[in-house]
Amino acid sequence: MSFDLDTYRRQVDDVASFLRDELGDAARIGLILGTGLGKLAEEIQDVQTVMYDAIPHFPVSTVESHHGRLLRGTLGGVPVLAMQGRFHLYEGYDAKQITFPVRVMHALGIETLLISNAAGGMNPLFRRGDLMLLTDHINLQGVNPLTGPNHDGWGPRFPDMSEVYDADLRQIAEQAALDRAIRLQQGVYVAVEGPNLETRAEYRFLRLIGADAVGMSTVPEVIVARHMGMRCLAISVITDECFPDALEPVSIEDVLAAAGEAEPKLTVLMRAVVEQMGG
Ligand code: HPA
Repeated sequence: MSFDLDTYRRQVDDVASFLRDELGDAARIGLILGTGLGKLAEEIQDVQTVMYDAIPHFPVSTVESHHGRLLRGTLGGVPVLAMQGRFHLYEGYDAKQITFPVRVMHALGIETLLISNAAGGMNPLFRRGDLMLLTDHINLQGVNPLTGPNHDGWGPRFPDMSEVYDADLRQIAEQAALDRAIRLQQGVYVAVEGPNLETRAEYRFLRLIGADAVGMSTVPEVIVARHMGMRCLAISVITDECFPDALEPVSIEDVLAAAGEAEPKLTVLMRAVVEQMGG
């Protein structure tokens, strides 16, 4: 089926007005909580929830480790709209479908997007359980959510990507991590399609082209957010060590366990960034 921009735009507007009715006035900060990293949602106060399968035109998260709901509430007193669970190409969705919620968030007035994900660490200085602030990314998914007709009301045909991760937000995150003695690595995230993890040769290649961590998400969301001028901050939890010459087998259980162990640090950090932005 070919992509129809008018239909897609109408669906974005429909869902935005549906959510406005369900959740009331929107927040200015949006959160996307990645694999095994949904616990931040428990910190959100005065929460109102809508399950994804109750939202018209919304994809449904097929990964067990994702809850699949939208939460509206306050984090440290600051209004937020959070996606607990996201969509991935490997689930069979296309790039427009997985980024649909970001278009909806923008339509609801969200100006800043804070994103978390689970990623494999390729920088030899990284350890399982570390957090990595994204400084930049490489799109190696073979698709782009902006192909096809462009809606100029959203953004330009050829959006600039010279600084995708907002320098001021990164500064806030760095300071928050320093203040709380949380080790925060920094680096380049490369997005692949998945669902398999990489071979040794692939990890060696991804490291060689300049990436510090590899994962299966985030980049399409950030491309769409930047297309519309939204500010982005993203943090990876390093769930496995991907050193080609010392590679150990990794299961999804290992990835989830590492994400779960690092989650409290990520929660503290995200919450601090939101508070700082709101204050
Ligand atoms: N590769 C790709 N995605 C991942 C990995 C990995 O090693 N770990 C967590 N997500």
